[in-house]
Amino acid sequence: MTTQKRVLITSALPYINGIKHLGNLAGSMLPADVYARFQRSRGRETLYICATDEHGTPAELAAIEENLPIAEYCTKWWAIQKELGEGFGLSFDYFGRSSSVQNRELTQHFARVLWERGHIEERTTRQVYSKADGRFLPDRYVIGTCPHCGYDRARGDQCENCTRVLDPADLIQPRSALSGSTDIELRDSKHLFLLQAKFSDELRKWIGERHEWSPLVSSIALKWLDEGLQDRGITRDLAWGVPVNAETWGPNPDGKRPDVEGLKGKVFYVWFDAPIEYIGSTKEWADSAPAGTNSRDWKSWWVGDDAQKNVRYVEFMGKDNVPFHTVGFPVTILGSGEKWKLVDQIKGFNWLNYYGGKFSTSQKRGVFMDAALEILPPDFWRWYLTANAPESADSSFTWQHFADTVNKDLADVLGNFINRTLKFTEGKFGAVVPEGGKPGPKETKLADELERRFGIYSVFLEEIQLRKAAQELRAIWVLGNEYLADAAPWTTIRTDKDAAAVSVRTAINLIRLFAILSAPVIPFASEAMAKALGLDIKTLHWPKGKIADEIAVLKPGHAFTIPPVLFAKIAPEQIAAWEERFGGAGP
Ligand code: MF3
Ligand code: ZN
Repeated sequence: MTTQKRVLITSALPYINGIKHLGNLAGSMLPADVYARFQRSRGRETLYICATDEHGTPAELAAIEENLPIAEYCTKWWAIQKELGEGFGLSFDYFGRSSSVQNRELTQHFARVLWERGHIEERTTRQVYSKADGRFLPDRYVIGTCPHCGYDRARGDQCENCTRVLDPADLIQPRSALSGSTDIELRDSKHLFLLQAKFSDELRKWIGERHEWSPLVSSIALKWLDEGLQDRGITRDLAWGVPVNAETWGPNPDGKRPDVEGLKGKVFYVWFDAPIEYIGSTKEWADSAPAGTNSRDWKSWWVGDDAQKNVRYVEFMGKDNVPFHTVGFPVTILGSGEKWKLVDQIKGFNWLNYYGGKFSTSQKRGVFMDAALEILPPDFWRWYLTANAPESADSSFTWQHFADTVNKDLADVLGNFINRTLKFTEGKFGAVVPEGGKPGPKETKLADELERRFGIYSVFLEEIQLRKAAQELRAIWVLGNEYLADAAPWTTIRTDKDAAAVSVRTAINLIRLFAILSAPVIPFASEAMAKALGLDIKTLHWPKGKIADEIAVLKPGHAFTIPPVLFAKIAPEQIAAWEERFGGAGP
C-alpha cells in the first residue's frame, strides 16, 4: 500500500427518512469519521464526504405521512441529520444532498454516456397504474390480501406477515396505498436497464485484485457474480427523483435513439443516483467554497490521471450495501469509459444488534441518534461503538454492557488517570508543570512500551481495524496508570520531591499525548484534555518522531487547569431507567 496519497473517504449515505439508529452510525459514519480524523492528524490531505439519500419510495411515503411536500420534507430532515451528525462530532468536509443540482447533472451525465456507449437498453415492463391517483404505483404502494397467508395489508413487494416475496399481480383485491382506490390496472411502461451482466468478467478481475478487501466484502461481491449478474432496471415511474432527460441523448452504437416520449416523466432509481452523489456532494463542497477561495478542486479527487494516481478512496458501509458498491456503482464508473476513480478499499460492517435482535427504524426498536445525545455525551457512544464495532461478526448492544465498557475504560482508566495526575500536582506543586529531577529508568521503560504500542495502534488505524485499535488505545491509557502506580509520586514526595516532580511532569505530558492519540475516537474529551493543558487540540498532530520526546514536550512552568469531570460514571439506576425507556430484553 502506498501511504502518501490523498485520502478520499465516503460513508454510505443515510436515507433521508427519519433519524438514524446507533447501528447505522456504528456501521458507516462513525468509523469513517475515526479514520478521517486519524488521517488528518497524520497530516494527510483528507476529504470526508457524506450526504442524505433523498430519493425513492420510502422518502415519498414518509413525506405523505408527515403531510409535507417531498422537497420540504427532505430539507427539514437533511438539516436534522446534519445537526445530529455534528452533535456526534462527525467531521464531514461536506454533508450534501442527493437531490442537489450537482447530483442531478452528474446522474444525467452518467446515464447519457452509458446510453451512448451501449450499456443501457430500453425494455417494456408491466406496471401497476392507478387511475384515481393518475400515476403508476411502485410495488410497495400497492396493497392487498396475501395469496399465501390471507393477511389483508400485504404490500406488492412483500407480505409483512408471512415474509413471502410478492409481485403486485399476486395480490387479491389490490388497491392503491395512496388513495385506497381499487381502480387499478396493469399497463405497459418503458424502462431503462443497465446492462450489468456483460461486466461480470471485468468486475471479477477487478475484485480479485483487491487484496486488501476483507473476506466479508469480497465474499458478498463474488457471491453476486457467482449467482450470475442480472441487468438492472434503473428507472421508476415516480415524480420524485432525478428526471430521465433522454431528449439530450445521442444515438447508441447501433444508431438507435431513446424513446423520449415513452421515457417522459420517469426518474432514475434511487440506487442509481445515490452512489453518484458521492461525487455530487464533492462538487457541492467545491461549489460552496467561500468567495475568493479556489482550493476546492472536486475533479482532482474523482477523475483524471491525477486522481487515479494520487488519491486513495475508502468507502464505509454496512454489509447490505456492499453489492451496490462492488457491482452497481462500479458498472456505472467502468461503463462510462471515463477516468473516474474506482474505490480502493471498502470497509464493510456486520450488524450491531439490540439485545440480540435488530435495531429497527420502522419498529423504533433500539437507540436513535437524537435520544443517544440527549442522555449522554457523544464520546461515550463513540468509544463504545468503536470498541465494539461489528467487524468480523455482529455485535450486540445491551445497556449493561455499554455502561460497563464506558465506566471501566473511560471513567476508571482514562478519566481517573487525568484527574489523579492533575489534582495531585496542583495540591503539591501548584497548577504548573513542576521542575526538578531528571527522567530515569522508569521513564525509559514507559517510553519504550509507549513506542511499541503507539506503532501497533497506528497500524490498526491505518488498516481500519477498529476493535483492535480501541484495545490498543486502552492499553496505552493503562500504561499511564501503571506508570503512576509504579512511580508513586504520593510516596516519593515525602522523601524526594525531585523524583515526584519527574513523575508528574511525565504524567502531565502523557495527558497531552493521550489527547492526541484519543482524538480520532473521542474528540470532545481530547479537546477538553488539551484545553486543560492550555493547548488547542487542532494544533496537535500525530507524533512523527520519538515517543520519548513526546512525553517531555511540556516544560516546567507550563500552567494547567483541572478539567471538569470528563466521564461521569453511569449509575445502576440509570441503566434500569434506560432499559425501561428504550426497551431492554423484551420486544
Ligand atoms: N441509503 C442507503 C442505505 O442506507 C445507502 C446508500 S449508499 C449510496 O442503505 F452509495 F448509494 F449512496
Ligand atoms: Zn402473507
